[in-house]
Amino acid sequence: MTSASTGPTAADELARNLTSMETDALLGGLNVSDGHPRMALTDTQREIVNSLPLLFDEAEKRVFEEIEAEAQAAFLHGIGQHGAPVGTGRLVSCYSSSVAMDITARALAQRTGHIALVHPTFDNIPDLLKGRGLTLLPVPEADLERGEPDLPDEVGAVFVTTPNNPTGWVLSEDGLRRLAAFCARTGRVLAMDTCFRAQDTRAQYDTYRILEESGTEWVVIEDTGKLWPTLELKAGFLAWGENTDLPLTEYFSDVLLSVSPLILLMITKLAEDAAREGYTQLSGLIRSNREALAGILDGSPVELTDPDARISVARITLPEDGPDAAALYETLVRDGTHVLPCGPFHWARQEDGRRQVRLALARSGGDVVRAAETVVAAVREHIEAARHDHRVTTTESRQH
Ligand SMILES: Cc1ncc(COP(=O)(O)O)c(C=O)c1O
Repeated sequence: MTSASTGPTAADELARNLTSMETDALLGGLNVSDGHPRMALTDTQREIVNSLPLLFDEAEKRVFEEIEAEAQAAFLHGIGQHGAPVGTGRLVSCYSSSVAMDITARALAQRTGHIALVHPTFDNIPDLLKGRGLTLLPVPEADLERGEPDLPDEVGAVFVTTPNNPTGWVLSEDGLRRLAAFCARTGRVLAMDTCFRAQDTRAQYDTYRILEESGTEWVVIEDTGKLWPTLELKAGFLAWGENTDLPLTEYFSDVLLSVSPLILLMITKLAEDAAREGYTQLSGLIRSNREALAGILDGSPVELTDPDARISVARITLPEDGPDAAALYETLVRDGTHVLPCGPFHWARQEDGRRQVRLALARSGGDVVRAAETVVAAVREHIEAARHDHRVTTTESRQH
C-alpha cells in the first residue's frame, strides 16, 4: 500500500478532468474517448427503441414501484446478483451512477473523514469523494485482492471499483470475501462501484450474498449506462445492506423522487434481450475490437497494457522514446481523434499514467481500427521526428 494521502487542493480543482475531455469529444471527430456505448443498435435493440411509444403508455398506467422492481430484478438477476435487495427499500434508482456516487460520498462523509480508494480509477470517483470533504488514501488493486490493506485507524471506509476502469481488473470472489471480512472486523464500510460488471462474467458472482453474509456495512453502485447505445437513457442503482447505518434514504430523497418509469421499462426490455443474446453480442464486439486493436499494435512501438481485460475500454502503453500521453492526446485532438490520457485515472500520482492512453471499445469496429491506426502513426511520426532532430543536432555540433 502507498502511504501518500491526498485531500482536495486548489491544484486538483484546476487540473483538467477526464469528463471535460470526453465532452470535447462530443463536438465532432473520431470519438474513442468516453466509456459510454456508441456503436449501432442491434436489430432486437432497435425493436425495443421502436416500441418506446407503447412503453410510454404502459408507464403512464402502471404503479411505479412495480415497474422499478421489475427493472432492477431483470437487470441485476441477469448478471448474477440474485441477492440484490430488490423490493426491500434498500435499492434505489438514480439518473446515473454518478448521482448514486455523490449520494454515497455525502453519506460516507457523515461517518468518516478518510476513505481508502482503489488506485488508479475513473477520476470522477475521487473527485466526488473529495467534493464531499473526504480525504483519500490510494490503495493498489493487489492490496484489495489480498483483503488486508494496511490502513491507518482514521480510515472509515474502503471504496473499490470492480471491474476497474481503466485497468479492467476484477476483484475475485475470494478477494471480496476477504475484504468484506476485513471491513467487518475493523468496523469499516465497504463501498463498491460495479458499473462495468455486466461486461465481465468474472465479476458476476453474487456480490450481495457475500456482503450480507460478512456482516459488514456495505454500499454498491450498479449501472446500466455502459452497455447499450441508448443516448444516455440509463439508470444507476444504489443498494445498501441491512446493517448499513448511513443516511442514504434521506440523501437520495434530497436529490430525486424517481427516475422515469419509461426508462425503467426500457431497461427491463434491454436486460431481457441481453440475457437472451445481447450480452453475448456485446462481449463479442468488445473482444473483436480488442483483438483488432492488438493486431494493429503488434509490431508497433505501442503495446496493449491489459490484454486480459474484458471491459469496453483498453489502455495502451507508449514507448519511452515516443510522446507521453498528454502530448499524444494534444496531437490527436488537433487531428480530430479523441482518446483519453491516463494520468488523471492515477488520481494520487498522475505521473504513474504518463505513458498510457485509453481507447473506448464500445464502438463500431471501423472506429476502433481507425483510431488505433491513427495512434500508431502519430507515435511513429513523433519517434521519427525526434530521431531526425537528434541527427541534426549531432551534425551541427560536429560542424562547430
Ligand atoms: C467506473 C465508473 N463508475 C461510474 C462512472 C460514471 O458514469 P455516469 O457518467 O454514467 O454517471 C464512470 C464513468 O465512466 C465509471 O467509469
